[in-house]
Amino acid sequence: MSKFWSPKVRELTPYVPGEQPRERLIKLNTNENPYPPAPGVEAALREFPVDHLRRYPDPESRALREAIAREVGVEPEQVFVGNGSDEVLALAFQAFFCHDRPLEMPDITYSFYPVYCRLYGVTRHALPLDEQWRVDLEAFAKESGGVVFANPNAPTGHGHERQAIATLLSRVTDSVVLIDEAYADFGGESAIPLVSDHPNLLVTGTFSKSRSLAGLRLGYAVGSRELIEGLERVKDSFNSYPIDSLASAVGIAALADHDHFEACREAVITTRERTRGRLEELGFRVLPSRTNFLLVHHPDIDAAQLFVGLRERGILVRHFNTDALRDYLRISIGTEDEMDSLVEALEPLCT
Ligand SMILES: Cc1ncc(COP(=O)(O)O)c(C=O)c1O
Repeated sequence: MSKFWSPKVRELTPYVPGEQPRERLIKLNTNENPYPPAPGVEAALREFPVDHLRRYPDPESRALREAIAREVGVEPEQVFVGNGSDEVLALAFQAFFCHDRPLEMPDITYSFYPVYCRLYGVTRHALPLDEQWRVDLEAFAKESGGVVFANPNAPTGHGHERQAIATLLSRVTDSVVLIDEAYADFGGESAIPLVSDHPNLLVTGTFSKSRSLAGLRLGYAVGSRELIEGLERVKDSFNSYPIDSLASAVGIAALADHDHFEACREAVITTRERTRGRLEELGFRVLPSRTNFLLVHHPDIDAAQLFVGLRERGILVRHFNTDALRDYLRISIGTEDEMDSLVEALEPLCT
């Protein structure tokens, strides 16, 4: 605690990201993609004219927004881009949730949302998941200060169909419904087609997971023009250039390669389901997942102990030390070889 900190900073409990280890470990702790970015990404980096770095980038990121808009089937004016979807989410909280009414969210969801609530002084109303650990869409009130959740949800992995989201949107019409689709490409159903009929729907996405570009920091939001304008107002009061020109060129190159995108996501899905079977054989309970991770629980073995045992064997997974998740491990899907190593390392720990 420093006397120089403003009172608000003293009260913050910042988000703690998954460890980025210095030593060589099999890294299954932050839901990165185990496959390289599209080959066009390397070409874009090689061919990028260095002299362009002298200039500020386009503050409106037109070219990147157009590329995303083409990809998801909306107008460029319905797309907002930011330095990772974390930044887009942070700006969205400021733009739409900073008022006296409480923001509704599931009690188990992406743990950055409560951090934003504390940062911006937003009151959080946490609602329990249903008995199968799905986001309980019916629990969200018709009237509130807004709704936020990840779909598929993190770290539980379950994803609702678009029709269920449409039903929620037919009820909640007076506040913003923010759906974080960081993992939707691994088997979720995107709500983006609903944006045209629902001016209060904002959907966020990221290049970090299915596009293998976590290090680049590119995220986006899709919504009505009025919501995008709200985000732009906050962004232009904070940082006019969150997307550098290199990131923009790389992002556009990544979007252009559909074959690579499909091949990588199919590989992740296949490996996920194969890993599920093998973990179940070892006695784990594995939650259904439409993401690039599995949330698992062993009825007889302490999760913290498994976490340590795996780390000693060179494998890093995620253990959340919270009441609800203490008995679980979240395991990102790596390559087939990495998942073989995981299962091999778990075998002696589970017998
Ligand atoms: C649910 C969810 N949303 C958003 C993010 C942030 O992604 P990024 O800032 O890399 O785009 C993550 C990262 O793990 C996540 O799990």
